[in-house]
Amino acid sequence: MEKVKMILDCDTGHDDAIALMLAAKHPEIQLLGVTVVAGNQTLDKTLPNTLNVCQHLGLDVKVYGGMDRPMVRDRIVADDVHGASGLDGPVFEERTKEAEKEHAVSYLIRTLMESDGDITLVPVGPLSNIGMAMRLEPRIINKIKRIVLMGGAVGIGNVTPGAEFNVFADPEAAHVVFSSGLPIVMMGLDLTNQTIATMEIIERMEGIGNKAGKLFGDIMRFTFESQKVNGLSGGPVHDVTAVMYLVHPEFFETRDMFVEVDLSKGPSYGRTVADINDRFHKEPNVTVGLNTNLPAFWDEVERVLRLHI
Ligand code: RIB
Ligand code: CA
Repeated sequence: MEKVKMILDCDTGHDDAIALMLAAKHPEIQLLGVTVVAGNQTLDKTLPNTLNVCQHLGLDVKVYGGMDRPMVRDRIVADDVHGASGLDGPVFEERTKEAEKEHAVSYLIRTLMESDGDITLVPVGPLSNIGMAMRLEPRIINKIKRIVLMGGAVGIGNVTPGAEFNVFADPEAAHVVFSSGLPIVMMGLDLTNQTIATMEIIERMEGIGNKAGKLFGDIMRFTFESQKVNGLSGGPVHDVTAVMYLVHPEFFETRDMFVEVDLSKGPSYGRTVADINDRFHKEPNVTVGLNTNLPAFWDEVERVLRLHI
């Protein structure tokens, strides 16, 4: 089976790190590169966090720093969940891995324009890099095979009553992406909040006995506590669902619907307005994840973690 070519765009980030671990070692994925954006923390933290995970696990993938702020709104971070470093919990050895000199937006444009149109973008943070690339070089829109993102929600948000963090952190960038006309798969909170790494899951992955299993535990033990600010019983691996969808769409129940980002500056700013009951009678533009087969999901996470050092 031909490997899925993908670029991971992330704001590492606890769940971003797990998503990176899955993308880097899944036998059916070719991870072309990793672009990093400000989100869970500022870029001067999310970038070294990403590099640390790659170095710690010996991942030979190029990492590119991108947007250090949203396209229009003021920058926000999620230090209540991810801590002061953006990846509180694990302790890494002194870092020697460096980011590439090329800006992530330039890398995205160059790589997509040189491609055969066979690359899937997997954004799991604010969409600032993707939105900027589309505005700077609109021709990439016809060169992107598909976008499978973690973000948004049909129902309740996790930053405001209506908005999920990745979209709320850069609603204008999200609007550029959602209105691009590209095939988009949206793994929103309705689905991703189902993927809580319980203490049983944490101990199961630590029991693998390798560096990746230990790192999973060190990472997810932190959000096991910190995610209680969201009223959750532990930390969901939100971002992993987007990578998992690429190789196991059968794990997910989805529905096509019209989705628009609310840019009005009221209480719903940054909400993904998902027309699940087709009230607007508009052509669906997004495939939205609603449920997942959790046992199969965790089995696959464990299988891939076992392929790491
Ligand atoms: O709302 C969850 C999303 O926000 C995840 O991508 C998490 O990493 C944070 O970026
Ligand atoms: Ca993220």
